[in-house]
Amino acid sequence: MRIRRGAVITSDKKWDERARRWVMEEQTRRGNPEFEAVVKGVAEEPGLPKDQCLIDGVLEPCTLVIIGASGDLTTRKLVPSLFKLYLSNGLPSPFVILGCSRTKMDDDGFRDRMEKALSEGGSIDREKWKGFARSLFYRSIEYDDVPSYVNLAESLRTLEREHGTKGNRIFYLAIPPTLYEITAQMLGKADLSAERKDGGGWARIVVEKPFGRDLETAVALDRTIHEYFQERQIFRIDHYLAKETVQNILMFRFANAIFEPLWNRRYIDHVSITAAESLGVEHRAGYYEQAGVLRDMFQNHMMQLLALTAMEPSSLFEADLVRDEKAKLYRALRPFAVDNPEGYIDLGQYGQGTIGGKAVPAYREEPGVSPESLTPTFAILKVYVDNWRWQGVPFYMTSGKRLERKLTQIAIQFKEVPHSMFRQVLEEHISANRLILGIYPEEKISLVFETKNPGGRVCLRLVTMDFNYQQGYKGPALDAYEKVLLDVMLGDHMLFWRQDGVELCWSFLTPILWECETCSNRSEMLRLYPAGSRGPEAAKKLLQDHG
Ligand code: BG6
Repeated sequence: MRIRRGAVITSDKKWDERARRWVMEEQTRRGNPEFEAVVKGVAEEPGLPKDQCLIDGVLEPCTLVIIGASGDLTTRKLVPSLFKLYLSNGLPSPFVILGCSRTKMDDDGFRDRMEKALSEGGSIDREKWKGFARSLFYRSIEYDDVPSYVNLAESLRTLEREHGTKGNRIFYLAIPPTLYEITAQMLGKADLSAERKDGGGWARIVVEKPFGRDLETAVALDRTIHEYFQERQIFRIDHYLAKETVQNILMFRFANAIFEPLWNRRYIDHVSITAAESLGVEHRAGYYEQAGVLRDMFQNHMMQLLALTAMEPSSLFEADLVRDEKAKLYRALRPFAVDNPEGYIDLGQYGQGTIGGKAVPAYREEPGVSPESLTPTFAILKVYVDNWRWQGVPFYMTSGKRLERKLTQIAIQFKEVPHSMFRQVLEEHISANRLILGIYPEEKISLVFETKNPGGRVCLRLVTMDFNYQQGYKGPALDAYEKVLLDVMLGDHMLFWRQDGVELCWSFLTPILWECETCSNRSEMLRLYPAGSRGPEAAKKLLQDHG
């Protein structure tokens, strides 16, 4: 089926299926009984996947090459997610995983290592694991050595012949960011980035954040990757985008007619975006000392949450159209007042304290952290979006480690009623409405509003109406890494950064980083807070304007 919608003509299978349903549903909605029967027929059609919400598209056979397979990301996130997908029949068939890193190991050594790592996280079904492990292979490589990659290409061709993965390859860089450029170059030089014509196989590269450490390095990294890969082959991961509750922000805003009319400066007083963690730096001091909270959380996750909350709707739910709208939003960010940062930023670093009844060390006492470190582990930023919708509405973005508890949420604080008709009978103030988009730990949407307290006297009571995300849903769910892995296999860019977004966010943040990293009163800017607290006392001042 070919269908024309606007300027887009496509014979893409996924689109065809969606278009077919859309046409039928539309006709049913208009009350044509013939079409009602057809829609029922479609729902029962044996060829269609039972759970339409699990996978959207056709998974082609492929090989996933994990570069950095002996590292933490592979054992903690990638292999557990792939195993879960295997258990829910969510992997392509045939499918091969080829692990590569400097460590010398054979295939069985790699399989044992992965099994051990997975078992540490809870017991696993041995029989199922055996089935999955048959698709695991391993080759050791030197990251900066062309012959190593030429051998890798040979191994890939052999595996492809033996398993029928059709030359489709995904290269997942699960390595330290300092190795991204050289690895992309080596893949290119060994002719592993080229896409073969006539269905001979595609090649995709997956890059984890951080994409550079400022604007200049991000541009340089992109230039190197682009020497060998086209933009459509590049997938820049931000696992926040793949969280169900984060994906839901656009659905909530644009699949309901009742919220959007209120979603602007006329009704919203301010917005708070919070990603608080109780964990400390863990074993990642080497990376975190160089990054700090601004690079680690703001340049990526926080900016995505901001975009989803504040962007305009795109004309269609398509990766490039959605990412165009995000880019527009980033372009509208008011440049940071570097000459007068007070009132716009507060930075903190955790000291000793107690979390969950257990004493924890200060950041400067963590293994691998300098005792004089000035790396911020907490930041609060007040930003403005200079456009018609948001003029004058502050967005408070807060993130920090070793805080009281882990909490990720977006709170939309509405304005107070313009006039109180109850002022002569009510003693108390009428609180404004608040909408909370909970991301963690509670996956929920809550609306806080005033009601009458039962009884003879006129008093108000603030109540909360809650929707829990899992409520009424029993089907399978994907965690963030399962979702991004699937989307790379499907070639869907919706939940990945595009380079213009990366650069726009760096343009916004780089002056702040310079200010924080080079100014003479750097140590005064950094306020210590006890681990297990709500952050630096002084940071609260920044919020005072808005209670
Ligand atoms: C990562 C950061 O990207 O996100 C970590 O590097 C942080 O420092 C983590 O702990 C938070 O992710 P989540 O999904 O646990 O909120």
